[in-house]
Amino acid sequence: MNTATGNLEDDHVHILRLIDVMEFITLNKISDVNHLEIIVDIIRNFADGLHHAKEENLFFPFLATKGFSPQEGPVAIMLNEHVQGRNFVKGISDNIILYKNGNKSASVEIYRNMNGYSDLLRNHIAKENNILFRMADNVLSESEHNQLLYRFGEFEKVHYSSSGPKDYIKMIENLVTFYEIQDQASQ
Ligand SMILES: [Fe+2]
Ligand SMILES: [Fe+2]
Repeated sequence: MNTATGNLEDDHVHILRLIDVMEFITLNKISDVNHLEIIVDIIRNFADGLHHAKEENLFFPFLATKGFSPQEGPVAIMLNEHVQGRNFVKGISDNIILYKNGNKSASVEIYRNMNGYSDLLRNHIAKENNILFRMADNVLSESEHNQLLYRFGEFEKVHYSSSGPKDYIKMIENLVTFYEIQDQASQ
């Protein structure tokens, strides 16, 4: 059956592919500003603007009705990590601007924040997939999963009508292809 947690896990697959690209760029100190700006766009409008928004606006509030407090415990930790992620993205974005204005040493801060984001999100996604979402599956009925899936779908429609219909998944795959990133799951 299609589940709300499965929907969020599908997003994670794409976000992890983006993180593969970010790790490759950081490791090889690639300073293609166009690609760095595309990555910030994908994080802001897909990983955060869509995926984290579905979690924060729809999924976690529903879990709160099942006794998962947003103030403490696993949901609170997830919310806090979303904030930490935004700080790293701001660090990437601010330093891209400095770099474009001629401050070449800003690249060090771009890579530092990209690394921080990658480590944080890899860990965050593992905790959601392995712990929080499994706890959620234990308390959500099939009809509750379906309700959430419906709301996710409505949210996506509104999101893409305001941010412009970009195919973020295709944008991630284009970067993966460009940098010839291997599929880590198949290694
Ligand atoms: Fe999350
Ligand atoms: Fe997530």
